[in-house]
Amino acid sequence: MLILHNNPFEPRLQMQEKIVILDFGSQTTQLIGRRVRELNQYCEIVPYNKFPADDPSVIGVILSGSPFSVYDEKSFKPDLSAIRGRYPVLGICYGAQYLSWVSGGSVEPAGSREYGRARLCGVDAGCALFKGISDGAQVWMSHGDTITSVPDSFKVVASTDKVRIAAFAVEGEPTWGVQFHPEVFHSECGTQLLRNFVVDICGGKQDWSAASFIETTVASLREQLGDDKVVLGLSGGVDSSVAAVLLNRAIGKNLTCIFVDHGMLRKNEFHNVLRDYESLGLNVIGVDASAEFFSELDGVTDPERKRKIIGKGFIDVFDREAHKLKDVKYLAQGTIYPDCIESLSITGTTIKSHHNVGGLPEKMNLKLCEPLRLLFKDEVRAVGRELGMPEHLITRHPFPGPGLAVRILGAITPEKVRILQDADDIFINGLREHGLYDQVWQAGVILLPVQSVGVMGDERTYESAVALRAVTSTDAMTADWAHLPYEFLAKVSNDIINKVKGVNRVTYDISSKPPATIEWE
Ligand code: XMP
Repeated sequence: MLILHNNPFEPRLQMQEKIVILDFGSQTTQLIGRRVRELNQYCEIVPYNKFPADDPSVIGVILSGSPFSVYDEKSFKPDLSAIRGRYPVLGICYGAQYLSWVSGGSVEPAGSREYGRARLCGVDAGCALFKGISDGAQVWMSHGDTITSVPDSFKVVASTDKVRIAAFAVEGEPTWGVQFHPEVFHSECGTQLLRNFVVDICGGKQDWSAASFIETTVASLREQLGDDKVVLGLSGGVDSSVAAVLLNRAIGKNLTCIFVDHGMLRKNEFHNVLRDYESLGLNVIGVDASAEFFSELDGVTDPERKRKIIGKGFIDVFDREAHKLKDVKYLAQGTIYPDCIESLSITGTTIKSHHNVGGLPEKMNLKLCEPLRLLFKDEVRAVGRELGMPEHLITRHPFPGPGLAVRILGAITPEKVRILQDADDIFINGLREHGLYDQVWQAGVILLPVQSVGVMGDERTYESAVALRAVTSTDAMTADWAHLPYEFLAKVSNDIINKVKGVNRVTYDISSKPPATIEWE
């Protein structure tokens, strides 16, 4: 049974046993969380100085890495007296350096920043953290500082060829530190090490799964919402769709979903997705507001203005439709965990990086309901599958809220949208037909404000050029252009030029992010 804080959807699952990850600002902190969850163990990421000392369900603590050095004035140095000796503790990279340094060990800048693969040696076979891990195991290093000496009560339990103190155990205290990053894929023994900590040392029951999440969340949604009515904005994306199906299971017809067509969706997407939603049993209202949006966007070329117009237009349409419903108390959103984790800025101030869709909650004066707030993206997909949703809804590529508006460079017209929809449809269907869709993170076509000369039959043409964009990524923060087969690109190019009236040239975007971005606008 879940006991939740005042706002049921500002969740902290009090009775779900958890590992707490103290975030010192490392880029891999979220990855630690995902790895722990993959062990079916629930965990929460909190800022380095916000340990929930009053939470009885904490079973262990992990200290993350950090962009800082311990001897940096700005580095985070919290008081660990409420943690050390009371819970099993694992420090990773900076976390390990800080544990040692604060007890009197020394940390010094390494001659050169050590980055990349290393092999363990001198592994202490009797150390619980290294159970099943032997000399030669590959680990991933990424650090500019090295622990050069540890206090007397610390025992070195593993080294590498370059680093003598790659891991330590504290005698008389359930505390360990590792200089390497067990959470990253290239640390071959990383999962074993995290399992040793989470399961053997902390005693984790590994009772976190999509099925258990659904069962407890549906029960708590029913209890908290009672007969209250809820409205939810669907985007066609996986997060809002899974949130809707979960809520539908909990409260059925008391949930009304609104799906707005702003005219910038993919070809036939509005009808196809609406049909999918209806077949899932959702109570959904489809609103075709494309004419309003086209009129507002007429002649607008600035990308940020396009975004603002669409964001505001969406809020207005949604608000208008929601007001036609009676007695609505809650606005539901598909917010997920990475949107909610408080991230640490380099200056040390805490920023809430929570994106409410376009300021809707403020405008509508409704209580928020965010049932996926605790889930990582892969977990959202697992919940969707467990709920029986069709695979094509679950594995859909991300698609920007402003849709094709930010893929038509320059002013938008219905004719340009038609051209782009047709070209995009050929590209996306081609990816599916050639088994490439699931190998790329995201793909689409961009309509360029460029006309070029061509020849078709005996006729000279002077028509638009388009760019195909397909990227691989894990989180959209960085991305590489997808190395699609030439034969496939040739076929797509040929099909687009032959079938899409208005296009006579196709290019392929081979820029990575950074320095480019995924979208062109
Ligand atoms: P960029 O272009 O910044 O995109 O590399 C990163 C990811 O974000 C998506 N994106 C948006 N999503 N509203 C959204 O909902 C937007 O205004 C927006 N702009 C970019 C983009 O498709 C990619 O997945």
